[in-house]
Amino acid sequence: MFVESATLRRVKPSATNAAAAKARALRAAGRDIISLDAGEPDFDTPDNIKEAAIRAIREGKTKYTDVDGIPELKTAICAKFQRENRLAYTPAQINVSPGGKAVIFNAMLASVEPGDVVIIPRPYWVSYPDMALLAGGTPVFVATSAASGFKVRPADLEAAITPKAKWLILNSPSNPSGAAYTEAELKALAEVLLRHPQVWVLTDDMYEHLVFGDFAFRTIAEVEPALYERTLTMNGVSKAYAMTGWRIGYAGGPAPLIAAMRKVMSQSTSNPSSISQWAAVEALNGPQDFIKPNAKLFESRRDLVVSMLNQAQGLACPTPEGAFYVYPSCAGAIGRKAPTGKVIESDRDFADELLETEGVSVVFGEAFGLSPHFRISYATSNALLEDACTRIQRFCGSLT
Ligand SMILES: Cc1ncc(COP(=O)(O)O)c(C=O)c1O
Repeated sequence: MFVESATLRRVKPSATNAAAAKARALRAAGRDIISLDAGEPDFDTPDNIKEAAIRAIREGKTKYTDVDGIPELKTAICAKFQRENRLAYTPAQINVSPGGKAVIFNAMLASVEPGDVVIIPRPYWVSYPDMALLAGGTPVFVATSAASGFKVRPADLEAAITPKAKWLILNSPSNPSGAAYTEAELKALAEVLLRHPQVWVLTDDMYEHLVFGDFAFRTIAEVEPALYERTLTMNGVSKAYAMTGWRIGYAGGPAPLIAAMRKVMSQSTSNPSSISQWAAVEALNGPQDFIKPNAKLFESRRDLVVSMLNQAQGLACPTPEGAFYVYPSCAGAIGRKAPTGKVIESDRDFADELLETEGVSVVFGEAFGLSPHFRISYATSNALLEDACTRIQRFCGSLT
């Protein structure tokens, strides 16, 4: 009989993937479902990027490449870090992995010793704790709240740091809350970190280009150069260039860490797809003009969703600075009865009953470590968002 390994028994499957699968199954069974669970842009990969991939295929760039990325892509990534983040990296300090997720996983596997602590602010992207566990580490959480804009307060970070602390994972703008740290807020966290040289920082900047109004994106190694030697600045093409399926993520960091991550890849995945790597070269070096209008579009969707959710009985939705998620509280719905007769006791119940009654698929907050909340991805059309929010309002109004 098959028995899962002890390591794997410590982790749970991705809740966001599970929510999306459940919604797909209901739709296949003929139900009218609106999915606000998926974390991917609703527009297509730009044509110049697709053409670069087709060219790569025609030119026979279809063989194994250097394990952690072709030189042309590493050069493009160095230029990106310099241009957009004022960070100087050489190609020996760059890792390219099959997706941003793989970058983080490779970094954890390359560096975490049994018992090492990985500090993770809550709410967190669903994969961080399980990646730390898979690498043999121990996730330790730092709570945030809507009152602190879902951002870690320096005193709370200080309190979480122990001699065993190996990593702090920062994610700004955040999945699931959309919260993004200002330069001053990063500086305040950096001051704490400077007092604890054993702690490295993995900053997940996947949503860098999705910030709204006059918010200025900053990353921690840029704000505090003294942290450069112990920061892994991670990013990818998935969200900014609508390339989730191409599987290219990257990071800049100290060369010994990058070399260790290459060793992990050399005995696991080998290189990311050669064709996707050439597409990513074009994404980073080609025209960037669609990025700003795109962020504007997401900003208008954020405003629509925040306004409609705040009109729903029992919900409270803060206005986030970036990404394409909102993370409203459903505290006002807890203890009340849904149309099916079920009493809502948790955000999981809230999400289940919303799906059952109105066919709107969202992800419950427990999956991100902070309840009672739920996550909405607003990376879909205004018409669908209006329909979904009207259904949510109706559902909340129907609770007794
Ligand atoms: C915060 C965050 N980091 C990393 C990733 C992973 O990105 P990729 O699809 O490139 O693996 C995601 C994807 O949802 C994300 O939301």
